[in-house]
Amino acid sequence: MNAFDQSGEHAATILLVDDESINLSVLGQFLTSHYRVLVATGGQRALQLAHAAPRPDLILLDVMMPDMDGYQVITRLKDEPSTRDIPVIFVSVLSSDREEERGLSLGAVDYIYKPCHLSILLARIRTHLELKNARDRLKDHNSFLEAEVKRRHQEIQQVHLQLLQSEKLAAIGQLAAGIAHEINNPIGFVNSNLNTLDGYLRDVFSVLDACCATLAASPVTIEAASQLQELKQQKQLSYLRNDIPELIAESRDGLTRVRDIVQGLKDFAHIDSDDWELGDLHKGLDSTLNIIGNELKYHCTVHKYYGDIPQIYCRPSQLNQVFMNLLVNAAQAIETKGDIDIRTGCDDRAVWVDISDNGNGIAPENLTRLFEPFFTTKPVGKGTGLGLSISQNIVRKHGGRIEVDSELGRGSRFRVWLPIHQELSNREECRA
Ligand SMILES: Nc1ncnc2c1ncn2[C@@H]1O[C@H](COP(=O)(O)OP(=O)(O)OP(=O)(O)O)[C@@H](O)[C@H]1O
Ligand SMILES: [Mg+2]
Repeated sequence: MNAFDQSGEHAATILLVDDESINLSVLGQFLTSHYRVLVATGGQRALQLAHAAPRPDLILLDVMMPDMDGYQVITRLKDEPSTRDIPVIFVSVLSSDREEERGLSLGAVDYIYKPCHLSILLARIRTHLELKNARDRLKDHNSFLEAEVKRRHQEIQQVHLQLLQSEKLAAIGQLAAGIAHEINNPIGFVNSNLNTLDGYLRDVFSVLDACCATLAASPVTIEAASQLQELKQQKQLSYLRNDIPELIAESRDGLTRVRDIVQGLKDFAHIDSDDWELGDLHKGLDSTLNIIGNELKYHCTVHKYYGDIPQIYCRPSQLNQVFMNLLVNAAQAIETKGDIDIRTGCDDRAVWVDISDNGNGIAPENLTRLFEPFFTTKPVGKGTGLGLSISQNIVRKHGGRIEVDSELGRGSRFRVWLPIHQELSNREECRA
């Protein structure tokens, strides 16, 4: 058998199925010079060869055969995924339109009457082999394209993930920059207070030294006493007496501020769990104002209208974070100069804290999106869009809620509702 065609390429394999050996021999001899030829004298053998290697590239199938006719063979071939795509040409003595139609409807690619002109048969075989090759190439291309689409899809997902990651990093970076700023501020004024105190102490000690010197040279003359008095006035001792405690108190405040911020950061990162305690919200509001007061004081006037509210069971430092976010948002909504009102009140079951401003207000279409993480209308570097989503989480864990009321151009009011008596489940959930 000649397994190679004229171009030297691997020749196609043709399976010849016919129960008459004379047909097999004539056709077989003719085709052998063009293709690799397999022969079968019955349907069962034909099916066996169709499944074995080398797989036929095309089958020439007789219709009338004793044990299994050609129609049954083709039906079985089409049922099997591995043989379904092998083109089948019927070669039959049954030359009627009905037979031809039946053969084609069962999936044959062609129907040739016997006896046939061998060169016509060869031309048809070639055509169908070319078609099959084209189909095979198309199939290969398709699977290649499918794999490619899958690969690109995975690549896109990867890039998307990296983008999200870097957005998150950028947000954390901005948060860190804000916190660094918050910490730098008190460190700045504690430092400057220490310098002032350093100067004050020098003055105090110089007066003290003069006192000691005067006492050592006793008796104390009137002149020495008046010189001492003069030095005391010159060094403004009575002013220092008032200012030193103020400087110390202010510095303590500053350090408490740093400590609170660090504590806040620890809470944020869940380094340790600060426990539930009976907290005074007014105290929390005041200490929060202390932390951000510097930022507000240039363009906002804060008015406090504290009502008579009970202490509530809460995690105070977390609520301070909420107040801080709301106050900073209020301040950022005020472009030039404006007011921030803080009101508190309660009913039987809950206390509320209102933080309102007469700033820009919120567009109605944004009202529903405020609490989404990363939703911000602020320019890059100014807002991460996390403030309200973090605040809402904290308030929800306290069993409370945040209400918003806003009008574009007139200002906004955020009301935080917190239950007076905490459900045990809230506390436990929060600790988890
Ligand atoms: N008092 C307010 N007045 C006007 N708009 C507000 C006010 N509070 C919140 N917003 C709007 O809600 C958006 C989301 O607020 P949120 O505090 O979650 O994020 P942010 O302030 O943009 O960024 P940050 O993470 O720094 O807080 C803001 O960008 C702003 O558009
Ligand atoms: Mg904010």
